[in-house]
Amino acid sequence: MPNPRAQSGRTHPLAVIAAMALPLVLWHAEAVTPSGAFVVMVVAAGGLLASARRARSAEARAAVLALEFERRDAALARASEEALRTVSATLDAIPDAILEIDGARNIVRANAAGRALLSASPGATLLSIVRDPDILAGVDDVLAGRETAEIPFTLPGSVERHFVVHVLRLDLGAAARSRAIVLYRDVTALRNADRLRADFVANVSHEMRTPLASLSGFIETLRGPARDDEPARLRFLEIMEGEARRMTRLVSDLLSLSRIEASEHAAPTDAVDIGPLVARVADALGPVAQARRISIAVDMAPGLPAVAGDGDQLQQVLQNLVDNAIKYGRADGEVRISARSLPADGAVPARVSIAISDSGEGIAREHLHRLTERFYRVDPGRSRRMGGTGLGLAIVKHIVNRHRGTLSIESVPGQGSVFTVRIPAMAGAVTARDQRDQPSSTA
Ligand SMILES: Nc1ncnc2c1ncn2[C@@H]1O[C@H](COP(=O)(O)OP(=O)(O)O)[C@@H](O)[C@H]1O
Ligand SMILES: [Mg+2]
Repeated sequence: MPNPRAQSGRTHPLAVIAAMALPLVLWHAEAVTPSGAFVVMVVAAGGLLASARRARSAEARAAVLALEFERRDAALARASEEALRTVSATLDAIPDAILEIDGARNIVRANAAGRALLSASPGATLLSIVRDPDILAGVDDVLAGRETAEIPFTLPGSVERHFVVHVLRLDLGAAARSRAIVLYRDVTALRNADRLRADFVANVSHEMRTPLASLSGFIETLRGPARDDEPARLRFLEIMEGEARRMTRLVSDLLSLSRIEASEHAAPTDAVDIGPLVARVADALGPVAQARRISIAVDMAPGLPAVAGDGDQLQQVLQNLVDNAIKYGRADGEVRISARSLPADGAVPARVSIAISDSGEGIAREHLHRLTERFYRVDPGRSRRMGGTGLGLAIVKHIVNRHRGTLSIESVPGQGSVFTVRIPAMAGAVTARDQRDQPSSTA
């Protein structure tokens, strides 16, 4: 940048001569003494030096300023490039498909989701990728001045996907021609959740209606035909009690399910010993097993580490799995609860694995992946007759999820099933060696 002071910066030679000559002239004219002339000369030389220094520093300042301006230009260019990159990276990070459409219905920009979902590429016409007349009409309306349009859209395919397409006017100031943003929001999960909720309410109503209808029927019979039939009355009352118990169980299962779901995001942190839990469950279900002449065998590896858990919830997991093993196991057979520790493996922490196996009829392969769905049963009639709510395994799955553990189910039809739960060991707990080969104790 030009600087007027810098151009006249050099000290003129005449100024030097004049400054040096002045004391001589003064001395000759006897206006000063020789020492006075010397003082004048020193003062004049000092003035010249100072002015030269000022000029040099002005020059340096100008050079610094010029450099500074160059640097700012480059920084500005870099900043706007970076801003563009940030905007397009941000758009790419948004999971909704986003297209920017100009006034002639051409695609100006498409984010990553837009390119993936609609194969949109800048320069192409909107018509080449969008056929839905409602979306096209929405875009036209917005380009013609309307603020927004919202269009439901279903993408056919082996798995249907549902979208709400938002068309928004992009305001680029008065000078620019209007543009539109087309945004595809995937609402498939939302719709599925809605359907699940509706199914759930229908299932609960159905589960309640059956025992209620049976209770009403028995009450009627007891008032009418069976009024004076003592043995029938006792039998009916027993059935009624069973139905009432099942409804109570259903309500309490529903309550625990919603409680567990509400706390599922927070992993439990108490140190829980699996041994005493297993013993308690085996004791509690002993009489039920005995009624079917089933023996419960407990096989605990010694030195199991504590798990990070919620004792009551883990007990419920064991209770539900052992209860199923007894219910669906072979009468006169055996139900085995075995636990061992699994050492840490790479990113997987040390865990305790608890397996509950029975020698029942097993489960056909096609049912395995659905067993933990609410109210899913292989044989609904049988499950209900045995007092089941169809929620046991759903509760198990949610508790195991909350514990950041896993549930796996293996079954061989005709031979039996093994339900295995693996729960992370308490961090810092003494991790026992893999004790598969240790001798087992049988209770
Ligand atoms: N050990 C098992 N052997 C065979 N089938 C089983 C076993 N455990 C569970 N099931 C099947 O899974 C279904 C769901 O189990 P669950 O959620 O506990 O409900 P419920 O026991 O109340 O029927 C059962 O109805 C049954 O068909
Ligand atoms: Mg059950």
